Amino acid sequence: MIPVRDRPTSWWLSMLKRRRERMYDEQLALDTPIAWSSESERQAAIAFFNAAYRAEESGLRQAHELADQIAAWDPELAECLRLYGDEEGWHRELLTKFLAWIGGDVRPMGRVTGSFYRLYARADRVETIVLTNLMFETIGSTTYRLALRNATHPAVRQMLTILTRDESFHVPLNVHFLKLVLARAPTLSRVRLRVLFRPIYCALVASAAASRRRALAFDRIPLRVLARAYAEQLGRLFAAEPSLGLSAPRPLLFALGLRRADLAGGDELAAASVAAAEAAVDRARVEVSAL
Ligand SMILES: [Fe+2]
Ligand SMILES: [Fe+2]
Repeated sequence: MIPVRDRPTSWWLSMLKRRRERMYDEQLALDTPIAWSSESERQAAIAFFNAAYRAEESGLRQAHELADQIAAWDPELAECLRLYGDEEGWHRELLTKFLAWIGGDVRPMGRVTGSFYRLYARADRVETIVLTNLMFETIGSTTYRLALRNATHPAVRQMLTILTRDESFHVPLNVHFLKLVLARAPTLSRVRLRVLFRPIYCALVASAAASRRRALAFDRIPLRVLARAYAEQLGRLFAAEPSLGLSAPRPLLFALGLRRADLAGGDELAAASVAAAEAAVDRARVEVSAL
């Protein structure tokens, strides 16, 4: 079997096409109402799924814009980006339904989230967009996986299982995008990306604090656990891809009780994500334990 990191664009495209065949058949089972422990738990759930909605919206737009740019030099990769964006669009649809079902709606973004996305939307270089997107996918899948551990209601578990499963597939897919985009980028762009990497890394780890203020009563993930998980998962991802030359900032790792040596094993993580994603091609077969 070809290792995850060496899979060609054609393999990713065939996976995305197979996933698309069944994507719209999968429906949320919203039949048992949720007995919230308090109104603040429900409000926190609305905040949690609003943040997810914004991530999907941004992912969809960026993926389709990149597809238009990349089509000129790699039509196969551009098609991957389109199908990948469509998956985010499907998540956005599911989240819209889910939010309405829990008595919420799509709300304007808060100050911190809003400035984050405005900054991201201003990124115009392909490699910056792909890197940022990959890092967003990583913290997204980490958050969903941790929230799933604490979730008990079947509908919440189903929503989080879908998101965890698909975002775990999007992470290695975006690693593939980043490698191809960087292979064409001039040296100066690579240097620029290395300079940008650390502030983005720190901002994403710090974003755990902003989300705790709003979503903690729902997902029950303590700040330290979430911030450490972000730093670790991002660190592992780039430790497994030394050719990218992007490594986690030591002082931040140290502050969270992590060392560079703790970050080995990103390969297995990617392989596990892809194995879960391959199983997810037949979406009915997905087991939560595989995530
Ligand atoms: Fe998504
Ligand atoms: Fe995604």
